[in-house]
Amino acid sequence: SDIKRLLVVSNRLPVTIDKKQEGYIFKESVGGLVSGFSAYFNSLQDTTFSEKDSVWIGWPGISVDVEDQQLISERLSQDFSASPVFLDEVTMDKFYLGFCNKTIWPLFHYFFSLTRFEDDLWEQYVAVNKVFCEAVCRIARPGDVIWIHDYHLMLLPAMLRERMPDAPIGFFLHIPFPDYEIFRQLPRRWGAAILEGLLGADLIGFHTIDYTQYFLNSVTRILGLSHTLGRVRVGGRTVRADTFPMGIDFTKYNNTAKQSRVIRESERLRRLLGDRKIVLSVDRLDYTKGIANRLEAFALFLEQHPEWQEKVILALIVVPSRVGVDQYQSMKRNIDETVGRINGRFGTLRWVPIVYQYRYLPLSPLVALYSASDVALITPLRDGMNLVAKEYVASKADKQGVLILSEMAGAAKELDQAIMVNPNSIEEIADTIKEALEMPAEEQQRRNQSMQVLLAKYDVIRWADLFIKQLLGIREAERKAA
Ligand code: UDP
Ligand code: G6P
Repeated sequence: SDIKRLLVVSNRLPVTIDKKQEGYIFKESVGGLVSGFSAYFNSLQDTTFSEKDSVWIGWPGISVDVEDQQLISERLSQDFSASPVFLDEVTMDKFYLGFCNKTIWPLFHYFFSLTRFEDDLWEQYVAVNKVFCEAVCRIARPGDVIWIHDYHLMLLPAMLRERMPDAPIGFFLHIPFPDYEIFRQLPRRWGAAILEGLLGADLIGFHTIDYTQYFLNSVTRILGLSHTLGRVRVGGRTVRADTFPMGIDFTKYNNTAKQSRVIRESERLRRLLGDRKIVLSVDRLDYTKGIANRLEAFALFLEQHPEWQEKVILALIVVPSRVGVDQYQSMKRNIDETVGRINGRFGTLRWVPIVYQYRYLPLSPLVALYSASDVALITPLRDGMNLVAKEYVASKADKQGVLILSEMAGAAKELDQAIMVNPNSIEEIADTIKEALEMPAEEQQRRNQSMQVLLAKYDVIRWADLFIKQLLGIREAERKAA
């Protein structure tokens, strides 16, 4: 038959394991890759891909004692169609906390001063990509389609290509691909290996046209390979780089917002916050998200517009992330302090300006909050896409609500009816908060309507289907040419 298996490969599995006294527990993983892609993975229905045979290969989030690995593997396979790649703590230290999150993550988000350039981190990056290669090779069978995700595994496509010359291999980068001037800060040996690694795929996908162009430009400048219309000839194959802005499961958010218990929860939230206007801020705790500027901007807004004091609340949700990296820890202390300072300065007996939660919210409470909020303030300094912006718009059943969005987020390329801000300008953000709070209802509806149409059309299923279709098309052309 034509039905294939899909092998998804990413560093993080859709479930993260935690070890508690009572034993291992399984939690939903955090982040756009997982929340976005799970919607597609869970929707596979024996059309292109076999629903029950498809597998998600990745790291389960902690180091698991050798004697427990068998049990964990069985549980992951049965309940989540997942196959774990076990890595010890020392390895994860240099790979995940190291090269991935102290080198690639800061550099690709233009945080040059936070970027570490250390050979032993790079060596672990190579080593772990090899471990993933072995894991995929143990599972893969002829006919499988392999789809690799994100910056942790950029060497893997070429490693797999060597072992499986004819396999359809796709790669998608969920973070920005930086301009050549930034990319070339990597020692040439690493940079070339990363580009060659990616070129092992048949199709390399990016969220925006700029990221795609920056990648192709680096390929030309560093590897000396030319490209036409996104196609690169390498090792006798044609590799395609193309733009696929990732969507969300629009129906899921829109329908959840219409459930009566979510509506009740949303109304309860509004009452609880004193029927004041609600400005919402939701992100993983990450320096790329611009949380500090956002808080300062809210304070400036309150200072400049005292008539708004006691009438508006900032609901600040910060989700714990990468706590093993120093930068993330110091940022947590910073946010705690800033929130305390602002609440101390403006707060009254009746009113706390910033309501702050340091935790992960599951779908329903998150959608209730999206739906209760008058304004979403999304101001990353740099963000590959930002799915929260799209989810906020999708969760507005009554189409009220204003999205303020940083022009540095990939999502800004599509969500053209948001109010755009430069996230570096505290003044600009403060002015925009006022503009958003005072926007007439009809204008809010008009803007949301137009963005909802787009989000409903280009949802995450469509995104994945377009990618897979193009990937299989390239493979087919290669086969014919051979
Ligand atoms: N998210 C969540 N609960 C929270 C906060 C965030 O489920 O309390 C989800 C959110 O719905 C979104 C994802 O985490 O799907 C974050 O993705 P985004 O692209 O905005 O940012 P990333 O974390 O990938 O940088
Ligand atoms: C971003 C990255 C993902 C990552 C997620 C959460 O969305 O693009 O690859 O999984 O952040 O980060 P973590 O380090 O916890 O996997």
